[in-house]
Amino acid sequence: MAIKSILVIGAGTMGNGIAQTAAVSGYDVTMMDVAKEPLEGGQSAIAKSVEKLAEKERITAEQKQAALKIKGVTDLKSAGGVDLVIEAATENPELKFKLFKELDGLAKPGTILASNTSSISLTKLAAATSRPEKVIGMHFFNPVPLMSLLEIVRGLGTAEETVQVALQVGKQMGKTAVVVKDSPGFVSNRVLCPMINEAIYALDEGVSDAEGIDTVMKLGMAHPMGPLTLADLIGLDVVLYVMEVLQRDLGDDKYRPAPLLRRMVDAGYLGRKSGRGFYTYS
Ligand code: 3HC
Repeated sequence: MAIKSILVIGAGTMGNGIAQTAAVSGYDVTMMDVAKEPLEGGQSAIAKSVEKLAEKERITAEQKQAALKIKGVTDLKSAGGVDLVIEAATENPELKFKLFKELDGLAKPGTILASNTSSISLTKLAAATSRPEKVIGMHFFNPVPLMSLLEIVRGLGTAEETVQVALQVGKQMGKTAVVVKDSPGFVSNRVLCPMINEAIYALDEGVSDAEGIDTVMKLGMAHPMGPLTLADLIGLDVVLYVMEVLQRDLGDDKYRPAPLLRRMVDAGYLGRKSGRGFYTYS
């Protein structure tokens, strides 16, 4: 099945990044969010990003125009006219289960329903629909236009044909895909979030300050960003949620969220998006 049109749900950082990348890769893209304001925010982030990429000649003038033409909508009806839906809404299980149920009712029987979830089970999401064979995880990484990985998550009922279509879409979007089993945190967040969590324990115990911890990991391990800077980029609420999923679903207290992480989320210090995390942002 050849994919031509894509509906991206969510105009936030991940949603607008996915929509932009799909549009510059030749897909006919619609982006949906619940209100005009977040939609316009997403469109303006796309405009800024493609401006930069075009300046650096990483995309052509035509590709930039394609991204600027992404249609914005505030309801789910367009799901009925597309070949692929990529859901990148807020990481809230109830919201996602409800969305998948609704999408199942609106989309054509052949339409693939993908989720960019960072931690919710694809098998559970698929069970909210009547088409588990057409439900799959397409997990992108922030910032989507720059990060080359696509983690494809195969739910228990995902058909091989759906995996092949997702691989083809990933290839056309210029990503290197790795197919993984539906397991808590998949591979990416199973490995990444415990590292970040450990860095937060080290900070809380005074082993070093935030700059010290980040410098050790940047210069000693050649990570492009230190773990605390990266936590601020991802969002501390997301890191906390992933740790809770790992602890609960793998049943092992080695995944216990750092108390400081929980306190910071309680205080509303969520990282870049709230202006304050381990660092402050203007
Ligand atoms: N579009 C276009 N340009 C962008 C951009 C975007 N979305 N985001 C950043 N840039 C630009 C910057 O503005 C900058 O431009 P300039 O050089 O003209 O000022 C350029 O890219 C390079 O940025 P930096 O100077 O910050 O240089 P870096 O070499 O550090 O590159 C980075 C930035 C690619 C973000 C790099 O730091 C990196 O790879 N960081 C790690 C990111 C990471 O690990 N992401 C995964 C998070 S986990 C996740 O998403 C999964 C979830 O489930 C939790």
